[in-house]
Amino acid sequence: MTEAILLVGGKGTRLRPLTVHTPKPMVPAAGVPFLTHQLARAREAGIDHVVLATSYLAEVFEPYFGDGAELGLHLEYVTEREPLGTGGALRNVASRLASGPGEPVLVFNGDILTGLDIGALLDTHTSSGADVSLHLTRVTDPRAFGLVPTDADGRVRAFLEKPQTPEEIVTDQINAGAYVFRRSVLDTIPAGRPVSVERETFPGLLAHGAHLQGMVDSTYWLDLGTPQAFVRGSADLVLGRAPSPAVAGKCGEHLVLPTARVAPDAKLSGGTVVGEGAVVGAGARIGGSAVLAGAVVEEGARITDSLIGEGARIGARTVLSGVVVGDGATVGADNELRDGVRVWCDTALPPGAVRFSSDQ
Ligand code: GDD
Ligand code: MG
Repeated sequence: MTEAILLVGGKGTRLRPLTVHTPKPMVPAAGVPFLTHQLARAREAGIDHVVLATSYLAEVFEPYFGDGAELGLHLEYVTEREPLGTGGALRNVASRLASGPGEPVLVFNGDILTGLDIGALLDTHTSSGADVSLHLTRVTDPRAFGLVPTDADGRVRAFLEKPQTPEEIVTDQINAGAYVFRRSVLDTIPAGRPVSVERETFPGLLAHGAHLQGMVDSTYWLDLGTPQAFVRGSADLVLGRAPSPAVAGKCGEHLVLPTARVAPDAKLSGGTVVGEGAVVGAGARIGGSAVLAGAVVEEGARITDSLIGEGARIGARTVLSGVVVGDGATVGADNELRDGVRVWCDTALPPGAVRFSSDQ
């Protein structure tokens, strides 16, 4: 039996999309709450016990996922009274693990969509005899991540979280947010106080000569830290670019959930998902977007790379590109919103209020 800890907590700011009421791990991606994809992939890799370490809004997870039986998992929930940081959260749940001191425990960040071969990370861990093994990926701008330079054998030389100066940017290899810990290493994290696994545990282990092994894997990887990234992730799940056994239907250009109604001449493409009870009107064109449950897109609207929140309404002929419309918001007819605009939940934009083009 292999166990896992899923980190879904922190101060919440980065996890809650600015304009959607639902906390991000529960916002549907390809028809199911985002967390379902991570849990289903862990199950597929042979994990059977997952402890969800959370510090906020724990009450939204348990009613949905319950004991995990539907996913073939045994799921437990642990809520921190105050956020304990990534390392503190791990230490706080270690007592829930049944694994022996020498056994591997998978740990993963809750805001990552990835095609990581979890079995390969576990194998790397076993064959290298490491204390901790880390999934690494390459990015063009590593500044928002943990930098992890390795030697020729993949052994980690340093761990530099969110480098501040150009001199600190020594590699494009970053921590991809999935680890295998030898269980006894988790037990050495101090209890009862906040600890950052990135800023304290990893550098401390390295300073004491511990063996941290990196596994660079260039599979699909996306940090869902922004609503825009979330939309991208949802579309990639629908398109099948991001592999998940939990996509709520067949992969392809679009995914229309059973109770949604889409006009026959509407065009859906680029991994667009139309959620339960949502309505798409005649002649609408929607590409690479997520239309959440109960939303309404009126006739002739054109939407690309956007998130339409639950119960939101997009008026006729309105054009949206790279926009987040919060739950319950209304964008009246004949508006044109672009590039990063966020319409707050439950607000209303009158018809013809905002345009980018010069006339009409
Ligand atoms: N339970 C709990 N308690 N979970 C926490 C806490 C906490 O106090 N703080 C953060 N987490 C969870 C978050 O919910 C997230 O799933 C994960 O730990 C990482 O925290 P983030 O706040 O999202 O960190 P980040 O995105 O800035 O950086 C992390 O991820 C990068 C990859 O996306 C680091 O691990 C980086 O090194 C890494 O490159
Ligand atoms: Mg993150």
